[in-house]
Amino acid sequence: MKIAVIGAGYVGLVTAACFSEFGYEVICIDNDKYKIKKLKKNIIPIYEPGLSDLVKKNAKSKYLLFSNSISKIRDANIIFIAVGTPSSRRGDGEADLKFVFSVVNDISKFLKKGKKQLVITKSTVPVGTGKKIQDIICELRPELINNKDYFVSSNPEFLREGSAIEDFMRPDRVVCGVTDKKAEETLKELYRPLNLREAPVLFTDIESAEIIKYASNAFLALKVSFINEIANLCEKTGGNVQMVAKGMGLDNRIGPKFLHPGPGFGGSCFPKDTRALYASFKKNKIKNTLVKSVINFNEDRKISIVNKIKNLLKPNIKNKVIAFLGVTFKPNTDDLRESPSLEIIPRLRKLGIKIHAHDPAFNSEFKIKEFDKVKWYSNVLDAMKNADLLVIHTEWNEYRGLDLLKVKKELKNPIILDLRNIFNLDDVKKFNIKYYGIGFKS
Ligand code: UGA
Repeated sequence: MKIAVIGAGYVGLVTAACFSEFGYEVICIDNDKYKIKKLKKNIIPIYEPGLSDLVKKNAKSKYLLFSNSISKIRDANIIFIAVGTPSSRRGDGEADLKFVFSVVNDISKFLKKGKKQLVITKSTVPVGTGKKIQDIICELRPELINNKDYFVSSNPEFLREGSAIEDFMRPDRVVCGVTDKKAEETLKELYRPLNLREAPVLFTDIESAEIIKYASNAFLALKVSFINEIANLCEKTGGNVQMVAKGMGLDNRIGPKFLHPGPGFGGSCFPKDTRALYASFKKNKIKNTLVKSVINFNEDRKISIVNKIKNLLKPNIKNKVIAFLGVTFKPNTDDLRESPSLEIIPRLRKLGIKIHAHDPAFNSEFKIKEFDKVKWYSNVLDAMKNADLLVIHTEWNEYRGLDLLKVKKELKNPIILDLRNIFNLDDVKKFNIKYYGIGFKS
């Protein structure tokens, strides 16, 4: 089976590398010449555990090739579209599908009559996009007949950054939206290597598959916001949100995952996808309050974190120093997209607070306007020297094992605000450090 993956971004690259690991011949195509040049030299543009080894290994054995030329889709049985669908610049939250449709235009030229190629969207696309793709191909290549010469399907991804390879190899489920038995058979064959792990492969119509992706992300975002709201209550009334989450999570209908409170969800998916789902409701003139509340709550969340910090630093906030640990939206990634830190740090800077930051994934791309005047440290203890407050923003493993005795010695004021609850209140208290977390009284 020959596979072409269009888009060598996060999703495309992981998909291409994992399918090549199954022994399929995969070509990963991107119009970014610089990126492909680097990939051909095994230089991976993103930080994802395990990805580099997988790419190197399969590129060496020639199961995985890279190219700039979209015409290479000619030879493929399956063509994945895995390009970005960012929020549109209009500011209405809708997903911008210009990259998807541009790829569809390009691949239409090279689809082969009678080859029965499968065109699959991996990109997160709003409901109705699969149908539009069918219409575009039909218009550009009227001699090709959908569900005879070629097939359009939807196969959304459920990969988490930081554990994408594991998620691909051991998925909770694979969702395939199809309109034809032949497409279903091809997808069954494609995912056969996962049979051993008994991964359920669910076949639906294309619209359902498209909605499953958004509904899943929005539901997880709702869970996160819900526990963050319960955390607010615990902070006022007593009670510990972690115990509450545990007690709730033991109910199989609720489950323990995505009930960790924090500074709000971020990343390239939840914020964008909740906005796009809300836009779909609006576009279809359906009243929606739930998804909108999740979006609003998450926006406000970052402001309430800034207020929490202000309260800990008052009365003289100006020129106070904060040691800020972790700026990425979650650990094991160098991704800053929509990280709460991008909102929190500029607001703190505006108050005249100095930020001494550390992040294990720090690289030159962290030097952005939102982090203007932030002082970066490569050693975590150095970042704490003489700080008035230590804020833990991202739960990197490196921070979990911090030697609290050393931490106390470095800080000017021994106060920690742990936005991820990586420590235990009683453990920290033993060091005479004032410890504040999320969702409990200190
Ligand atoms: C998310 C989904 O989990 C994936 O299934 C999906 O494929 C992906 O989006 C996507 O659409 O491509 P990801 O954005 O990598 O994956 O990150 P998550 O691990 O889901 O975390 C999202 C945000 O929620 C992070 O900011 C994280 O800190 C926050 N979060 C998560 C919490 O605050 N508490 C939790 O309990 C869980």
